[in-house]
Amino acid sequence: MALTPAAADGMVGAPGGRGTMPSKNDCVVESLGERKTASPLLERLDEKGEAGVRFRDGSQRVLADDRADRLLKEGLPVEEAPAFELAGPRRKLFFDPGRTTIGVVTCGGLCPGLNNVIRDIVMSARYHYGVQRIVGFQYGYRGLVTEGLQMELTPDLVSEIHERGGTILGASRGAQTAEAMVDGLVRHGINVLFVIGGDGTMRGALEICDEIRRRELPIGVIGVPKTIDNDFKWMDQSFGFVTAASKAVEALNGAHREAQGAPNGIGVVKVMGRHSGFIACVAALASNHANFVLIPEVPFDLDGRRGFLEALRARMARKRHALIVVAEGAGQRHLEGGSGGFDASGNVKLGDVGPFLCERIKRYFGEQGTEVNVKYIDPSYLIRSVRAMPTDSVLCTDLALNGVHAAMAGKTRMVVAVWRRHTVHIPIEVAISERHSVDPLGPLWLNVLGATGQPAMLR
Ligand code: F6P
Repeated sequence: MALTPAAADGMVGAPGGRGTMPSKNDCVVESLGERKTASPLLERLDEKGEAGVRFRDGSQRVLADDRADRLLKEGLPVEEAPAFELAGPRRKLFFDPGRTTIGVVTCGGLCPGLNNVIRDIVMSARYHYGVQRIVGFQYGYRGLVTEGLQMELTPDLVSEIHERGGTILGASRGAQTAEAMVDGLVRHGINVLFVIGGDGTMRGALEICDEIRRRELPIGVIGVPKTIDNDFKWMDQSFGFVTAASKAVEALNGAHREAQGAPNGIGVVKVMGRHSGFIACVAALASNHANFVLIPEVPFDLDGRRGFLEALRARMARKRHALIVVAEGAGQRHLEGGSGGFDASGNVKLGDVGPFLCERIKRYFGEQGTEVNVKYIDPSYLIRSVRAMPTDSVLCTDLALNGVHAAMAGKTRMVVAVWRRHTVHIPIEVAISERHSVDPLGPLWLNVLGATGQPAMLR
């Protein structure tokens, strides 16, 4: 992919910072072959052709960068600009629904909405298209290679699963060989595999696609990106993020009350998010009680005249209580050695910044002879194991249904995502090409600075 200056917006879902922009060709989605079967959707949803279904084809596209000024600066004619294919039902299908078997696998950590996506894939495949067999692979990619870790997914089985958190399939981290996974797909007669997971999972999906291509098999792979961290670049918002951030707000509000309820009370909340500070920023904005938000994207000093501890001291002198939100990836350089190593998905293991920060705060005020009461809350997995909130449920339905449309049309090696409020198809390579992070010069961080009153740089 060509490197171009994609300037920063920094809003949730906008390209943050200067990064890679896919080329027009990078955005082309692969297809398994000629589509010969008429879609049953017309008959099922809209006999008269007046309401219900508008078929799409590859000609409708959504610009990857929707900023007119940047397009002008690039000097690209609009037909040459990188753009994603609009999702939606296709008039002709590659797969004959009655003879199609769909597989579904959920990988990585839990995320609110996993069950919604599973449910709606099953419902749409069965009731919109008439697919009779859907196989769920259990505990992530391990379910593709281990006999006995498969279950049949029927509408009856899944009809109420969206009411609970987690995934009925179970999930796990860790790779399997592409050969063994494709052997599993062949053994179970899978025509299309739905892979629901994060970037590590999508890298695994690419390996599956490569192996399928090597064997020249007509098997499709459709990804549904999943992460509470919201760190996929080319999507407005990942499903589960809003629920997780909303759940985190409860911890912030609790810590705020605790801080107010003790002499010189300091509430500290650590939230997940890995290398991106979106959960911390959005929870802080929603709660509107935070005085400091520490995120991985904005480095800070602890000591020194402009450091975090001095800024906290000034706040405490003024107000006698404070709320600090720290993203789990923040301030890692202060933690000697971090926790070291990688998890089974290949993610760097982070040092535990929450307790470390509490200790440093206590020590700092102790050395000054000032009593402080530090109340620490780590909501940890609580924010991601809950059921999806309504907005996330709606997003999950949209992704699942459009994923099924893409799958039946024979699209492959792609993910389904909402970009600039349009649901689109994005090649997996593009989807995982860059991590989305908070832009320190963008409006989200500016809003955080405005809401907290903290200095732009604590250095
Ligand atoms: O990526 C999602 C996430 O919840 C991160 O926010 C967090 O760092 C990580 O997963 C925790 O993963 P695990 O389930 O392996 O503890």
